[in-house]
Amino acid sequence: MTPANRTLSRRRFLQDAAVAASTVTLASTVSGSGFAQAAATAVDAHIDILPAEPIGTIAPEIYSHFIEQLGGVVYDGVWVGETSKIANHKGIRQAFIDAMKEIEAPVLRWPGGCFADTYDWRDGLGAASKRPNRTAFWDQQESNRYGLHEFMETCRAIGCRPYLAGDIRSAPAKDFYQFIEYCNAPAGDVPSNSAAPAAPDSLAVERAANGSPEPFNVEYWGVGNESWGCGGNMTPEEYAAAFRRYTAWLPNYKGVKLKPVAVGPNGDDVDWTRRVFKSLGENPEKRDLWGLSIHYYTSGSPTKFAEGDALNFDEGAHYDLLARGSIMERVVKDHFAAIQQYGGQNQARLVVDEWGAWYGKGTEIGPTYQFSQQSTMRDALLSGITLDIFQRHAEKVGMANVAQSINCLHSLMLAKEDKFTVTPTFHVFKMYMPHKGGTAVRAEFSAQGIRNPLANGPIPVGGNSYTGSLEPERMLAGLSGSASMKGKTLTLSVVNPHLTRALTTEIAVGGATITSVKGTVLVSRNVHDHNDFEHPKAVYPVAASVGQASGGRLVHTFPAASVTTLQFELA
Ligand code: AHR
Repeated sequence: MTPANRTLSRRRFLQDAAVAASTVTLASTVSGSGFAQAAATAVDAHIDILPAEPIGTIAPEIYSHFIEQLGGVVYDGVWVGETSKIANHKGIRQAFIDAMKEIEAPVLRWPGGCFADTYDWRDGLGAASKRPNRTAFWDQQESNRYGLHEFMETCRAIGCRPYLAGDIRSAPAKDFYQFIEYCNAPAGDVPSNSAAPAAPDSLAVERAANGSPEPFNVEYWGVGNESWGCGGNMTPEEYAAAFRRYTAWLPNYKGVKLKPVAVGPNGDDVDWTRRVFKSLGENPEKRDLWGLSIHYYTSGSPTKFAEGDALNFDEGAHYDLLARGSIMERVVKDHFAAIQQYGGQNQARLVVDEWGAWYGKGTEIGPTYQFSQQSTMRDALLSGITLDIFQRHAEKVGMANVAQSINCLHSLMLAKEDKFTVTPTFHVFKMYMPHKGGTAVRAEFSAQGIRNPLANGPIPVGGNSYTGSLEPERMLAGLSGSASMKGKTLTLSVVNPHLTRALTTEIAVGGATITSVKGTVLVSRNVHDHNDFEHPKAVYPVAASVGQASGGRLVHTFPAASVTTLQFELA
C-alpha cells in the first residue's frame, strides 16, 4: 500500500462509495441504558472501512485466558474434585470446560500471576494424598490438589494450548529448565542437541509414571511474572540479567518451538521496556524472545474504595472507566515502539497477558473468593473497546489473556458450588469470534467524542491502581471498533459507549458491494445490568435489526451502551 493510498481522504472515500452523508433521518428504536434515552434523528457518525488496506492477521491468541491459584479461581471455579456432585470431567468443572469450548479459547495461562514466582511445580505432582500443603502467595493455604497434570487435562478437555510461567524469584534456573524438560521431553527421548541416551529416571519417565507418557509440548513460557513487583522487586537491568541467565539455554525438542515471554511493564511504564531491551542488547548473544508481557488493568473511579465499585457507578465513573481503559491503545503503541528501538530483539510481539477492570471490594461471590467481582454491561463495553484496540494493532499484539477467566477480576464466568453463570464479557468474546484469524483492515470511525467528566478528578490510588501514574484520558471516542476480512466476509465490531444516545451511523465499505448483512447486539435496559446465579440471562445478545444495504453503504443505529458485531458479505 502506497502512502498516497493510505491517506485517501474521507471526502474522496465517501464519494467513491456514493454516500450522501448526514441526510438520512431515522428514529432510534432501541432500548435505554438506565439513563434517559435520546432518539437519534440524523446520521450522527460515520465508519469508513477500507478492505484494501490490511493491518495484519488477527492472532486468535488475543482471545486467550488466565487462571491462577488465587481466591476462588482454581478451587471452586475450575476444580471441583472427582467426587463432587457438580458435573465434572476428572475433577474439572464441566460448565467451565463447556463455556471455554464455546468460545474456542486458544490458550490458557497458569499458574500465575504473582503465585507463579513462589510456586514449585513439583509440589503438584504425584499422588494427591502425598502432595504438600503450603502457605502460598495471596496468604492462602495451597493444597496442591490442582497441579500441572490437572492443568494439562483442563487444556486438553477445552482444546486449548497451555502457557506456563516459571518461578524466577525463588527457584534457580535449573528448575526452569527441568520444568520445560518435564513437560516436553518425549517419552524415552532426549533433547535434540544431546547425544546421551535416556536415563530410566529421566523427567519424561517421571511424567509417564504420573499418568502422562506423552509430552505436553508447551510452547509458551513466561520467564517470571511482574518482576518489577511481586516477582522480585527487580530493576529493569536486574530483570534483563535474569532473563539472559534463565534463557541462555533451554531444552528444545523436535516439533516444539519454545516461545519465551519476558516480563514487561507495570501499565504504561515505557522506561521499564526500554531499559530491559537496552540491557538485553548489551550482551550480543542471540536469544529467543518471542513476546513481551504487558499488564494493564483499569481501576474503577474511586468511591469508598480506591478502585471504585463494580455495580454502583454514576455517569462520570462510567465514562472515566472507559476513557482510562482506552489508554490500552497508547500502551500497545508505546511498548511496541520501544521494542523496535532496540535492534536484535525486534521480532518480539506484545503479550497482554493480564487485562481488565479491577474494582474494590463489595461484590465478591463469597468471603474466600478473593478479587472476585461482578461484571456489568459497562465491563462488556470495556471488553469490546479493548479487543478492538488489539485488532486495530494486529501486527503488534501476539497474544492477550483476560484476567482472569473465572471468579476473579474481569471474568467471563462466575461459579460457586453448583451455581454457574457467564458474564456479559463472555458474550463479547463469543460475538467477536469471527474476527479470529482474519485480516484486520483499516476502519475510520468519526463520531463526536465524549469528554471524560472525571478527567480532572482524583487519580485512583491504592493497591492495584496500575493506571494511577497516568493522566486519565480526557476524551473517550464516541464510537470505536475494528474490522477484519476473511475471504469475502467482512466483520465489523462497534462499541457505542454513550449512556443516552443511540448513534445512527453511515457505514461505507470502500470499493465493495454489500450483498447481505447480519448482526448481533449486546445491550441492556440499564448499563448496571449483570448476570448472577439467579438471573444468568439478564444480559444476553440478540440478533441486531439490520436495514438494507445499498451498494457499499449501510445505515445502522447502534443503541446506547451497546456492543455490536455486523457481518457483511461482499460481492
Ligand atoms: O490477576 C491478579 C494479579 O494481578 C496477578 O496475580 C498479578 O500478576 C497481578 O498483580
